[in-house]
Amino acid sequence: MMKIENKNIFFEKLGKNHPIPFELLLLADPSIDLVTEYLKQSELFVATLNNELLGVIVLFPLTAETIEIKNIAVKAEFQGQGIGSFLINNAAKVASNNKIKSMCIGTANSSIAQLYLYQKLGFEISELKKDFFEANYKEPIYENGIQAKHMLTLIKQL
Ligand code: ACO
Repeated sequence: MMKIENKNIFFEKLGKNHPIPFELLLLADPSIDLVTEYLKQSELFVATLNNELLGVIVLFPLTAETIEIKNIAVKAEFQGQGIGSFLINNAAKVASNNKIKSMCIGTANSSIAQLYLYQKLGFEISELKKDFFEANYKEPIYENGIQAKHMLTLIKQL
């Protein structure tokens, strides 16, 4: 794991001329078709250090008052150092400044670390989409030795 010495990490909107970081986005969501589809209506923010992109978060307007984090990913060598939390907390600030009342995120029953992280950051489980992953993804997905079958939606009031 690459240790971050310099704490000058910035949260910013991805520059218009910057190529879409598909490698990172596919870490969080292996369906290029779904990613391409929700990117059309989303805003993409990044965490950068000395102009290097460390992580990405995709915000999709679900309703006038709720945004959904459709995708969040941190480069493998920078994971576990607080960048995911930094992305979520900054996204919450931006949304709240824009009068958004709540933020939701969906993850699989098998995503143990993510379920831990999101609940630690104030999200609460609100919905279960049964068999979502089996119905929407061509290949079966396994994490932590568990098949990703169902989508859990978690919501945080801002
Ligand atoms: N079990 C329990 N806790 C774990 C595990 C694990 N296997 N792995 C890490 N953690 C903990 C860490 O210890 C840390 O907790 P702490 O703050 O109490 O020490 C926490 O989880 C991780 O927090 P951060 O460092 O802020 O998060 P990170 O920078 O690693 O980003 C992220 C989290 C985005 C999930 C990153 O790991 C990642 O990119 N994973 C691959 C892509 C992915 O799965 N994205 C989410 C898919 S869902 C969606 O996109 C809507």
